[in-house]
Amino acid sequence: PALLILWAILGYLLGSIPFGMVLTKLMNLGDLRSIGSGNIGATNVLRTGNKAAAAGTLILDGGKGAVAVLLARWLAAEDAAQLAGFMAFLGHCYPVWLRFRGGKGVATFLGLVLALSWPVGLMSCATWLAAVAMSRISSVGALVAALLSTGWMVLMREYDLTALTLVLAVLIFWRHRSNLARLKQGTEPKVSKK
Ligand code: G3P
Repeated sequence: PALLILWAILGYLLGSIPFGMVLTKLMNLGDLRSIGSGNIGATNVLRTGNKAAAAGTLILDGGKGAVAVLLARWLAAEDAAQLAGFMAFLGHCYPVWLRFRGGKGVATFLGLVLALSWPVGLMSCATWLAAVAMSRISSVGALVAALLSTGWMVLMREYDLTALTLVLAVLIFWRHRSNLARLKQGTEPKVSKK
């Protein structure tokens, strides 16, 4: 158990690195909190107009979820890997450095699912991409991908990962409360094509 606690802390710390904040600060792109949704994720970084920063945020926020899982799996065991991935997700959404006001967990979710089960991870990424492409709304992509990922786990017979994925999907919906309200009102912005 002591070892598991260590992996939980390590996963949390990794996940709590707000790469969107870090990159926008380093690249002098302004204050993310006062742009668009005020969120720290790749979608909001894209609203600064800098595609490279947005892509970097997506990859690094996803990467930290994947690294948490892979590191724990490599150095410890599968239960540690799942715990570290889950805690990385919580770290991203509730980072101590930002007074627990973090992101919505989508990139980190995709990264950790890829590391837990790459076939399901690919299906989830494809779902996210397809739903964003069709709706042109980032949050719709996130919600559809979160919703279907649990199904993909069952389909691919990853029964050990199904409950975890379901919990993460519920948390993603919870973190998208403001987006859900905007979607209902029809005021959720589209991703610009430029
Ligand atoms: O990943 C977050 C995305 O689904 C929504 O971001 O900035 O539009 O709230 P945002």
